[in-house]
Amino acid sequence: MTAGIAIAYLVAAVCFILGLKMLSSAQTARRGNLYAAFGMLLAVVGTLVDQRILGFAYIISGLVIGGFAGVVLATKVQMTAMPQMVGLLNGFGGAASALVAYAEYIRLSGDPSPTVFLAGNVDAVVMVTIVLSVLIGTVTFVGSVVAAAKLQGIMRSAPVLYPMQKQINALLLFAALALGGWLVYDASVWYVPLVVIGLAAVLGVTSVIPIGGADMPVIISLMNSYSGLAGATTGFVLNNNVLIISGTLVGTSGLILTDIMCRAMNRSLANVLFAGVGADYSPDEARAEQRTVIRYTPEDVAYMLEHAQSVIIVPGYGLAVAQAQHVLQELATILIARGASVRYAIHPVAGRMPGHMNVLLAEANVPYDLLLEMDQINDDFQNTDVALIIGANDVVNPSARYKKSSPLFGMPILNADRARTVIVCKRSLNPGFAGEDNELFYLKNTMMVFGDAKATLMNLVGIMKK
Ligand code: TAP
Repeated sequence: MTAGIAIAYLVAAVCFILGLKMLSSAQTARRGNLYAAFGMLLAVVGTLVDQRILGFAYIISGLVIGGFAGVVLATKVQMTAMPQMVGLLNGFGGAASALVAYAEYIRLSGDPSPTVFLAGNVDAVVMVTIVLSVLIGTVTFVGSVVAAAKLQGIMRSAPVLYPMQKQINALLLFAALALGGWLVYDASVWYVPLVVIGLAAVLGVTSVIPIGGADMPVIISLMNSYSGLAGATTGFVLNNNVLIISGTLVGTSGLILTDIMCRAMNRSLANVLFAGVGADYSPDEARAEQRTVIRYTPEDVAYMLEHAQSVIIVPGYGLAVAQAQHVLQELATILIARGASVRYAIHPVAGRMPGHMNVLLAEANVPYDLLLEMDQINDDFQNTDVALIIGANDVVNPSARYKKSSPLFGMPILNADRARTVIVCKRSLNPGFAGEDNELFYLKNTMMVFGDAKATLMNLVGIMKK
């Protein structure tokens, strides 16, 4: 590697680290993205001018095909389907690492055809990194595809459990590692890496199917972390420093995010991975108890809001579906102009991806200081006149506090039910993502106003402007 490329890689690594640091605050996140993108540009250009690369014909064809697929996917995907998209992108990262490592195995083994390899001619340390890269990359790819299929509703989102599940997974991992160990000792048997890939693919499926839909955010961020680890090990295979650094950064930041999500759901990672929460829960059973709620009109709600001194808005996934963030901001501005204190309570897993509500509200230019994390605002609900819930459901479901059979049990929720009046704006009594009926709708202090969030909020704004 020339000194120029080493310096380009070093600057790229500094940009990644600064970019990540800035992503931790909403005010600096856009700048952080630019820093990280600039770092990636430097790393890519640095690698392209390195003499040891393939011909440009391959690189340009890859860029055109991958770029086209990326543009089509990014323009077509709905904001609400972003987690699946992120899941698939993690998966492709893992697949790329596994393929590069496997290709390096073929190259180092001395013959491009997978039939005749020179026995034992691959350096043991390199072979260890190849095995790890292929193993982690394949688990990441297959696991991410299964997670995306669960989120997209292509596969059942409920946990799939069967006897001896943990033992079978442990056996699969052990078998893959043992075969990997054999490869390190003797790299000449061409089909062994393919068996390792096959075992890793099965492990990708069997390790994700027991995880319920409500825990999918944790798995997506864990897969993100794995894709970074696979990238870092591939960096060792290729002896490429920038890949080692960027892979390690993705791996560790993914782990930190996984930890944050687990804390937000009040679960340990082991509990998410092995407990199969929600497997024995039947939503129909809960919905079968026919209880009644009182339906209110936008006029009733407007009257209540006009007399409120303090309002906490709880946004959820339905706000994103309805794309009602702009009209919600308009309503908040009217309330503030009337002298009410208005704040937004942000649950860490509201919506369908980390930071979903922050991004949505930032789009509508809601001032950052009005957005409060769950821990900052949860004790204030009891002294608040109105909790205005727009398209949120699971994150305000009180059964998370006490109902052990619920898939939400143990997840800290926003204490919206403790406000003097609760206004819930959604289209029906349907449950949220976790499939759990919501006790909140039936409380005496709850006013249900049914309809699309955007239409209802526009109606409210219209009434309050008169
Ligand atoms: P949910 O519990 O999913 O509830 C959203 C509610 O929005 C639904 O009950 C739906 O009721 C309503 N809705 C949908 N479209 C609407 C529209 N056009 N107008 C008005 N309401 C509409 O959302 P939440 O409270 O934000 O909770 C998030 C859930 O997703 C949690 O279970 C979380 O674990 C899970 N999850 C989170 C993530 C991350 S990282 N945030 C990722 C994957 C999954 P109606 O159909 O009756 O309108």
